[in-house]
Amino acid sequence: MRIAVTGSSGKLGRATTARLREEGHEVLGLDRGGEAGFGFTRVDLGDYGQVLDSLLGVTARHTGLDALVHLAAIPVNGLVPDATTFHNNMIASFNVHFAALRAGLRRIVFASSITAMGFPFDQAPPALPVTEEHRAARNTYGLGKVLEETMAEQLVTWQPELSMTALRFTNVVGPEEYGGFARASDPGYRRDLLGSYVDARDGALAVSLALARAEPGLAVYNVAAPDTGLDIPSAELAARWFPGVPVAADLGEFESLMSTRKARDELGFTAVHRWRDEYRPA
Ligand SMILES: NC(=O)c1ccc[n+]([C@@H]2O[C@H](COP(=O)([O-])OP(=O)(O)OC[C@H]3O[C@@H](n4cnc5c(N)ncnc54)[C@H](O)[C@@H]3O)[C@@H](O)[C@H]2O)c1
Repeated sequence: MRIAVTGSSGKLGRATTARLREEGHEVLGLDRGGEAGFGFTRVDLGDYGQVLDSLLGVTARHTGLDALVHLAAIPVNGLVPDATTFHNNMIASFNVHFAALRAGLRRIVFASSITAMGFPFDQAPPALPVTEEHRAARNTYGLGKVLEETMAEQLVTWQPELSMTALRFTNVVGPEEYGGFARASDPGYRRDLLGSYVDARDGALAVSLALARAEPGLAVYNVAAPDTGLDIPSAELAARWFPGVPVAADLGEFESLMSTRKARDELGFTAVHRWRDEYRPA
């Protein structure tokens, strides 16, 4: 396929463009930052004209696309003022998704987040592991993700062939970022993430599987490793972090408290990079 990837210069974007190219796809990266070169075009996604034009065609880059992967965003609160996070991400997502629709693209995969389901979980979730059915925003970044999912839910009703897949990534760990797992025995570690993590290379795998499935309508999947990033049994974590919240009777010993069951069953996604293999004590 000919695929545009927004946010291609970022952590997940680099892993995703690399994987899709390895799989034989033609990939055009779109980002406001990045090295000039074949396979990349600099675009300010806040500018609708630039977005639409770059999806329709770019001289010396492409004359048409089959699919879009939208990963560009300010990926957390705190980097810029809270309102700026919201404005940047909402405007970029509207521009990208609406321009894709206008340009005739029917296969869209985009990055949502654990923040669309209640991160940092100061309020307890309704049940554990937390599934895709739970939607809650507790900051402006999460509010953007909830609204982007809501926008997609509506857009797919405008065009019956349109497929949009929201991948709710948990905290993305680059291959060189496993040092933090030294805290795996600390019960406070990753509490705000329900203990979850996902390797950037596995995030890219989820994108690839979602592009391949792409059924009409909106689908939402949690994307996390199947285990937590802790060496404390998950039932113990659940009882300590969220006393009184119902826990699935068949919860695995170290199973992620961000449910990965839907992505496993429908996308065939199981993360292959696990902290127990990747972490090297200093
Ligand atoms: N990193 C995580 O832990 C995490 C967790 C959950 C969800 N996500 C989501 O995954 C996606 C990728 O995150 P990441 O970690 O790769 O982030 P990143 O910051 O490494 O990369 C994001 C890229 O988007 C680009 N970008 C942002 N706004 C833009 C704009 N207006 N115009 C053009 N380019 C713009 C940036 O230049 C950057 O290269 C984001 O949507 C993020 O919200 C990330």
